[in-house]
Amino acid sequence: MRILIAGAAGFIGCHLARRCLQRGHQVIGVDNFCTGHRDNIAWLNEPSPRPAGADFTFVEHDVTRELDLAGPLDLVCDLACPASPVDFAPLALDIMRVCSQGVWNLLELARRRGARFLHTSTSEVYGDPDVHPQVESYWGRVNPIGPRSVYDEGKRYAEALITAYHRKHDLPVRLARIFNTYGPRMRLDDGRVVTNFICQALAGRPLTVYGDGSQTRSFCYVDDQVEGLLRLADCDYAAPVNIGNPDEIPIGELAREIIELTGSSSPLQFKPLPGDDPRVRRPDISLARRVLGWSPAVGRREGLQRTVEFCKAKLSRA
Ligand SMILES: NC(=O)c1ccc[n+]([C@@H]2O[C@H](COP(=O)([O-])OP(=O)(O)OC[C@H]3O[C@@H](n4cnc5c(N)ncnc54)[C@H](O)[C@@H]3O)[C@@H](O)[C@H]2O)c1
Repeated sequence: MRILIAGAAGFIGCHLARRCLQRGHQVIGVDNFCTGHRDNIAWLNEPSPRPAGADFTFVEHDVTRELDLAGPLDLVCDLACPASPVDFAPLALDIMRVCSQGVWNLLELARRRGARFLHTSTSEVYGDPDVHPQVESYWGRVNPIGPRSVYDEGKRYAEALITAYHRKHDLPVRLARIFNTYGPRMRLDDGRVVTNFICQALAGRPLTVYGDGSQTRSFCYVDDQVEGLLRLADCDYAAPVNIGNPDEIPIGELAREIIELTGSSSPLQFKPLPGDDPRVRRPDISLARRVLGWSPAVGRREGLQRTVEFCKAKLSRA
């Protein structure tokens, strides 16, 4: 297949691109490096065992501007969007634009080329949920003007737009609602909890826990996430599907687990919970199990261990 991956310089995007190359596809990566990293593109360009025909090209481009590429396309994967809460305020308008005009441009490209369209939505469409675990039929509880709303509502708008394209143009669309995903190649300074804790623990600094640490999250290792996304792209299901790991853990407990895994003696430091922070987060993945035959395979300790090794190597190079 010839696959366009928007957001290929990002954390999940580069893993997805790598896996597509390992499967022998031609991959065109697109990114404007707004939160992505050139290292990830260099990683994709590294020589590695690939089937004949696998090929990677990269186009530096902002998808909120119209995009035209020569040649056929079978699949357009849209992962282009800042995803870390630390970016929600400084990149507020960029997020709104990429979730609207950016998605629109990629949908148009897919429609013109007769390609399937895979979009990475988020568990944040459920907001601070009053249904637990979160099932796809739940409409969510989102503050439309809160500190996280540009991301949450941007992604909700994108889901509506993509579904409208599907209904109006019969475009084959796939909607992944991704739950917290972690692993090697995350940005160490992007404020997401796993890398925050690991870097703080490795440096012997206090681990910053917001609130009392009883709020929960469910963490999916990136290889599992990519496998879920590819199965979704391959299947024939146009409505949203949760892709995440239902192994739920309170944030305070995660901090202690990372202290133990890194052999650190860092203490915990408690700070006030940011506005609209969800109290609980856990995917119901019954639909993914049934439609995709998918469930996560990498346990949290193993995934964290691999992420710790990545962070150690990256910090020692820095
Ligand atoms: N990582 C998670 O836990 C998680 C959870 C839910 C949803 N998601 C979704 O998955 C996708 C990838 O997330 P990630 O964690 O890899 O984030 P990331 O920030 O590492 O990657 C996003 C990539 O998109 C690029 N990008 C942003 N705006 C762009 C634009 N206008 N034009 C071109 N490129 C642009 C960035 O430079 C970056 O490389 C996002 O859509 C995100 O909303 C991620």
